[in-house]
Parts: sequence; structure tokens; C-alpha cells
Amino acid sequence: MKRIGVLTGGGDAAGMNAAVRAVVRTAWHHGTEVVGIKRGWRGLAEGAFEVMSAGSVSGILHRGGTILRTFRYPEFATDEGTHPVAMTLKELKLDGMVIIGGDGSFRGGTKLMKEFGLPVVGVPATIDNDIPGTDISIGFDTALNIAIDAVDKIRDTATSHGRIFVIEVMGREYGLLAAQTGIATGAEEVLLPEIPFEINDLCRRISAGYDRGKQHAIIIVAEGAGKASYISFEIQERLQRDVRMVVLGHIQRGGSPSGYDRLLASHLGHAATEMLFRGEHGQMVGLVANKLKTSSLEKKGKAPAEAVLRDAAMQRILS
Ligand code: F6P
Repeated sequence: MKRIGVLTGGGDAAGMNAAVRAVVRTAWHHGTEVVGIKRGWRGLAEGAFEVMSAGSVSGILHRGGTILRTFRYPEFATDEGTHPVAMTLKELKLDGMVIIGGDGSFRGGTKLMKEFGLPVVGVPATIDNDIPGTDISIGFDTALNIAIDAVDKIRDTATSHGRIFVIEVMGREYGLLAAQTGIATGAEEVLLPEIPFEINDLCRRISAGYDRGKQHAIIIVAEGAGKASYISFEIQERLQRDVRMVVLGHIQRGGSPSGYDRLLASHLGHAATEMLFRGEHGQMVGLVANKLKTSSLEKKGKAPAEAVLRDAAMQRILS
């Protein structure tokens, strides 16, 4: 292989830089040049790229975000979006590509393989941790720790004022980030997309908590389960208690990656690049039961609900 590409797609995730670094350094070890595609699929369409020296990835391991940058680019799924990508690929003459991102990025990768015959491998990176074929994706651990830190702080003021706090956590349609934030912070309630909830039952449980002597109520809401603003309003109306809401939002995506994410990203980036060299294309490498494991990039489907339900059950026991 003379030249391979590397691209980060979808929402950024802490640790993406460590993965890019691992790809570039591994390829250089094989004497292969790496082209970094800028701004994800949009950059591929617009011909935005740079040849990366081994030194170009120095000093990035600890940095949040992605030095390659990223962009939501649904146009790539359409014919109009595909044509300019074909032009760039012709110019670049790549022998393979490492895609670092989530399920949308892997759909793009599958398209590259099918329509352009380009060998592609995937590295799972999203704070949502909703990719089948890996127990954990790059960025999840950092996002979880950020959410835990934020909830711990909110708990202090919640207790001082005896208030109810409704805290919205990211995760798109998948509740794992919220469920694990709930367990790790000892939240009173966790509302998840995987488990329907009834607002009157929720209020009854909150009231019962105060009756038992609780000084506050922390309600973690997965963004896929409902809007924090709506839930706060409904609780306030029914209980006539002081309710505040916090949407953690993109703070969960930023910041320096945790040690775990740095290690995970380094291992997965290295393993995926080695897969390209071995000719194992069309595969993603993930971590399953603490071992590197490959699975098909195509038809990833929905993330398994069991992991979320297991954590949700734990939350019920603890609260
Ligand atoms: O997929 C990662 C994620 O942060 C989701 O948790 C969230 O729903 C979404 O991206 C937000 O996307 P954007 O940054 O495009 O608003």
C-alpha cells in the first residue's frame, strides 16, 4: 500500500485524535503515506485534505475534538453528493481508508467500498456508545466522566436548596450514557428511551423520596426519552416544588480524553490500520469482553438495548 486516507466523521468524540495519531504512526511504520481528509465527508466531496507526516500528529493525543475536524454531511447519501467524492478519490489514488466515527460514518464507508471499490476499515468513535460490535466506543468514557462531574456539582446546590433537578444527558436515541450517569451519581430517577415512563408515577416516587427525608431529587433524562424543559414543567405543576433543569449538551463532547479513551483509541486505531495492511476490509474493530474483535461494517443495525436495560435495572435497586 502506497497511500491510505483517514477521516473522522459525525459528532466529534474525545479520543479521536489519539486514533488519528495511531493510524498515521502505524502506516508510517509500514512506509505508507497517510492523507488526512478534512471536515469528514464534506472534505472528501470538496477535495479538502493534507498529506500527514509522522510529526503532524505530535502533541495531539491529549487534545479534545478532532484535528481533522468533522461535519454533518447527509448529502453523501445522495447522488449529487457522491459525484464530487468520486472526483477527489480519483485525484488522491488511495489504496485504503480508515474511517473513525459512528454508524453514519460507517454507512459512508460501506458506500465507498461498494461504489468505488475502496478498501475501508472502521474505528468506532461516538459518545453515544450505540455501535453494535463493540462494548465501548471512543469518547464514551470521557463523556460519562464529564456528565458525572457535572451532576456531582449540581447535587451540592440541589441539596442546599432542597430542589428537584432535571438533567438532560446526550446519547441520541440510546440511553446508555444516561443510565450509567444515573448509576454513578446515585440519581433518584433515570428516564430512558428504552423504558416508557409515566409522569404521575415519577412524581409519586419523587414525593415519596421527600417524605422519607431526601433533601433533593436528581432526575437524569436521556435526550431520546424527552425534553428536560417539558419534564421539569410537568413535575413543577404537579408537585408545586422548586424544579430546575440543566441540559448538559455539547460540554459532554469536549475536553481532554480520559486515560481510558486515549488507550482505547490508540489500540483501535492501530488495529484497524493493521487490518487494512492484512487485507481485512469491510470490517470495524471493536472491544468485546476486553478483547479486540472485528465485525462487518455493513448493516450495523440498532445498538443492543440489553446493555441499557441491565444498567437501568441496577439504577432501580440503588435509588
Ligand atoms: O452522536 C453524538 C451526539 O452528541 C448525540 O448524542 C447528539 O444527539 C448529537 O450528536 C448532537 O449532534 P450535533 O452536534 O450535530 O448537534
